[in-house]
Amino acid sequence: MCGIVGYLGQKQALPFLLSGLERLEYRGYDSAGVCLQENQQLRIVKRKGPIKVLEADLQSLKFNSQLGIAHTRWATHGQPNEINAHPHYDCQHQIAVVHNGIIENFQALKQLLENEGHHLVSETDSEIIAHLIEKFYQGNLEEATLHALKLLEGTYGLAVISAQENKIIAARRGSPLILGIGHDEVFIASDVSAVVEYTKQVVYLKDGEIAVITPQGYQLQNIDGEDLQAQIEEIKWTVDQIEKDGFKHFMLKEIFEQPQTIANVLRGRLFSDQIKLSLHFNPRKVKKIIITACGTSWHSSLIGKYLIEKIAHLPVEVDYASEFRYREHLINPDDLLVVISQSGETADTLGALRAIPASETLGIINIVGSTISREVKSGIYLHAGPEIGVASTKAFTSQVASLILLALYLNKERTGNLDLELVKNLEDISRQVQIVLDQAKQIKKISQSLLSAKNLLYLGRGINFPVALEGALKLKEVSYIHAEGYPAAEMKHGPIALIDQNMFVVFIVNHGPIFEKIISNMQEVKARGGKIIVICDLENDVLKKLADFIILVPSTSEELSPLINIIPLQLLAYYVADAKGINVDKPRNLAKSVTVE
Ligand code: M6R
Repeated sequence: MCGIVGYLGQKQALPFLLSGLERLEYRGYDSAGVCLQENQQLRIVKRKGPIKVLEADLQSLKFNSQLGIAHTRWATHGQPNEINAHPHYDCQHQIAVVHNGIIENFQALKQLLENEGHHLVSETDSEIIAHLIEKFYQGNLEEATLHALKLLEGTYGLAVISAQENKIIAARRGSPLILGIGHDEVFIASDVSAVVEYTKQVVYLKDGEIAVITPQGYQLQNIDGEDLQAQIEEIKWTVDQIEKDGFKHFMLKEIFEQPQTIANVLRGRLFSDQIKLSLHFNPRKVKKIIITACGTSWHSSLIGKYLIEKIAHLPVEVDYASEFRYREHLINPDDLLVVISQSGETADTLGALRAIPASETLGIINIVGSTISREVKSGIYLHAGPEIGVASTKAFTSQVASLILLALYLNKERTGNLDLELVKNLEDISRQVQIVLDQAKQIKKISQSLLSAKNLLYLGRGINFPVALEGALKLKEVSYIHAEGYPAAEMKHGPIALIDQNMFVVFIVNHGPIFEKIISNMQEVKARGGKIIVICDLENDVLKKLADFIILVPSTSEELSPLINIIPLQLLAYYVADAKGINVDKPRNLAKSVTVE
């Protein structure tokens, strides 16, 4: 949830620490701080608020240090304020720690430390780590850190420095951490985006690994201090991919990237006569599929259920990861567990993957090298590039495109059949998505009518019911307007009571067997004075009469329609939020990667 960076090298540490924090700000941004080692002293400066507040205050201070750590926080234990911000000192200000994750036994450890005379100042669970290291410190930082780590229950990605030693200790258990390897310098970060500008060579720490970084280089160890071999990997993403590309916000840039990102999912996998996925299970043996995920990824899972049941004729269950992980797991040996996560780090999704005793697991993940991607037996990477906007957009369509491929693949492998029309339409889908994006100006105009709305209903049926859920989530996340998604026919079972002249109802309709039924739902809304926005692949006189606004989208197979229908909903949410002056990429109370339960 939070971001960590660290530097040890020949150059000044502060410029990297600040630029690294800025890159990670999307992970957490309620306070930030740095700690630099200088003349055998540690100096911590931290501030509440966004990183620019910290940056402004640091300008008046002089530093000369080649060693430092820094952190940007999204509060879990204690208020977002300067005291709770990281880094945290020990009693003597000789040790400083930055930490991501949650220490579950922190109350017991805090009590123990206070009984021994330690004075803790913050409400955080993280501060105890600095004091535990102080407790064991006898002139060797890695030894003291290893001692301390053995007492911690819970998760951490952390970095520790001391006033007396020219080194950083970094450790990972359940919270991501990487080393960026430069010339005579080593960077630490909780996400590669922080270091990509400085180096392409990275080492992904695995759970249980500790890195000891000195001016001579770095060495990995396990918790018992035994040396481990490091594997250097090359980052393929460029700085350009991470930057906004001229768009006002990352969210808008990412919405507009979708023709490309959908094509990336299909490249090398979709062929006119076959689907190529390198999966390590036998598709013919699978009897049932269980998909689990959170948030937007849960919405794509619901679409996955529809797709796999319709195309591959296999039963699919979908569950919120946060619920599924704690339920009775009635798994059979022939069941396939699919986990979907953009970040590959979502705590509940990872928890479900670890808790559910499935013999075959498949991850649909964006971030290469993320924890979930390492722990599943088979995987489909989205190749969507970094998604910086907190509201997930391009990852959603890439997940849906992956699920279409999976459904086609399963059917082909199990029956030998491939739906050639679907394949043909899939080949054309990026072009059709671009046609919707080309209507952005018109959608922006429509969005202005929603500025004073307080409540919206999003209604869809079949495969477009999850699209309604996702459209409503996008709007509430970034515009703070209350919105709910429902299956259209459910409206009369309750939500219809809400409809009056102040209520906007967004209908997602495809021309097909249930088109007329949705028209009846629209009539019910109209009769009660509600305002209607329709996303539809067909415009007729009845629709024109009923709807206040129609957004006409290209026609495709019903199975592919979510890829098209979600685009206007993403744009509507974005333009409403932007017009309201909201920081769209970092809406309040949300973080990009939810690595706590
Ligand atoms: O990284 P993940 O896909 O596992 O994240 C799951 C949710 O936290 C995420 O989709 C969240 O709901 C987003 N804010 C949606 O825009």
